[in-house]
Amino acid sequence: MTAHHLRLGVNIDHVATIRNARGGDHPDPVRAAEQAADAGADGITAHLREDRRHITDGDIDRLSEALTIPLNLEMAATDEMLDIALRHTPHAACIVPEKREERTTEGGLDAAGGHNHLAPFVRELKNANIRVSLFIEPDPAQVEAALRLGAPVVEFHTGRYAHLDGEERATELRRIADAAALAAKNGIEPHAGHGLTYDNVGPIAAIPQIAELNIGHFLMGEAIFTGLETSVKRMRELMDLAR
Ligand code: PXP
Repeated sequence: MTAHHLRLGVNIDHVATIRNARGGDHPDPVRAAEQAADAGADGITAHLREDRRHITDGDIDRLSEALTIPLNLEMAATDEMLDIALRHTPHAACIVPEKREERTTEGGLDAAGGHNHLAPFVRELKNANIRVSLFIEPDPAQVEAALRLGAPVVEFHTGRYAHLDGEERATELRRIADAAALAAKNGIEPHAGHGLTYDNVGPIAAIPQIAELNIGHFLMGEAIFTGLETSVKRMRELMDLAR
């Protein structure tokens, strides 16, 4: 399976981080989402964290109303988040691990060890026609666990890849490529994300089975210097060049 058009999901969480620093309504993540869509994003990703440190419930309400491209809701496997997802029925939901004290989503979900906890979340989201994905490490045991859970999509955590260099990065890239091939062979659509930048996106975008990348922090940081339209377009271009 080769996914020809590699989709770009733009994560707008950190527009909300800047807004919340002053507690008002500027800059507005919905405006950023609309601009990202105009610049070529295929979807918008937002993580409603338990502590609401960036995206708020009101943002999810307004994104659900305003967006003309698919919304991918990143959520922890909790009853509260499941209720919110079932109320809004976004196009997609990505289940992520969440620890209150972490700076960002630091590792993948333990889909293998967490099977019994995760199974009802996957089932209920699927029953509501929400495309469920599990954010996992590029590890065959995790892909097999996702398969047992009936998840149609997995997103591989590229954080380790992004932070390593040289031979270690090459090894991690091979793990991601192998895990993507294993997922696709088993009928699971592989995605990837976390820590991707102009400099490191190419080799990930070149993995033929990967159908979607979710990218946020770098795009928003770069937007400070060049504007969001330019940063999204440049990322899109680099993804297409690698394909
Ligand atoms: N994918 C998932 C599941 C994430 O949790 C995040 C970070 O919220 C991203 C992608 C985007 O990562 P980054 O902001 O580093 O591009």
